[in-house]
Amino acid sequence: MRRRAGLALLLALALLAAGGAGAAEETGEIPRVSAVAEDFSRNCQGCHRADGTGACRTVPRIRDFVGLFTRIPEGRDYLLRVPGVVWAMLDDARLARVLNWMLVSYSRDEIAPDFTAFTEEEVRAARKRPIADVLEVRRGLIAELQRRALLPPGEDGLVSAGCD
Ligand code: HEC
Repeated sequence: MRRRAGLALLLALALLAAGGAGAAEETGEIPRVSAVAEDFSRNCQGCHRADGTGACRTVPRIRDFVGLFTRIPEGRDYLLRVPGVVWAMLDDARLARVLNWMLVSYSRDEIAPDFTAFTEEEVRAARKRPIADVLEVRRGLIAELQRRALLPPGEDGLVSAGCD
């Protein structure tokens, strides 16, 4: 069963990547995508916003940004262990799906070409090790992204979060 669920998720991600929800709907078997969107809206968008723009200088935007973390080795670990993820009121399988969906839906262009989808097992293990000093760890990762010229100097996903 788990294998089947994994394959269904991969299919859903591939369809999303190929052409968004419209392409997925044409297959007639994609209820999982709306369920995952609902999980995001109930658990994450209060802070990160439905359009993924975050909150001015306090909650990082995920839109056109969060995928950058998959491009550095420590970034994958960070995405799994950041407090908003670790403490979500979702089981490990649903949380893995939300993370994968979030990356593809909001930041597809930034995802590393060799990225492999988060798994339930990986989420379960990471949740046992939440990041202790998230601001410090995040500062280090942002500096590394800037050093690799993946982010311009001064851009940290917070200064560019929605300020309306
Ligand atoms: C209470 C507000 C809040 C909620 C709810 C929340 N987050 Fe966050 N999230 C933040 C903040 C603030 C940060 C920046 C790091 C920190 O200070 O914890 C962050 C960082 C992140 C990051 C790392 C990106 C970065 O730029 O640092 C990811 C990925 C993420 N959140 C995903 C999620 C997901 C997925 C959910 C829902 C399951 C969620 N968050 C729920 C506030 C929230």
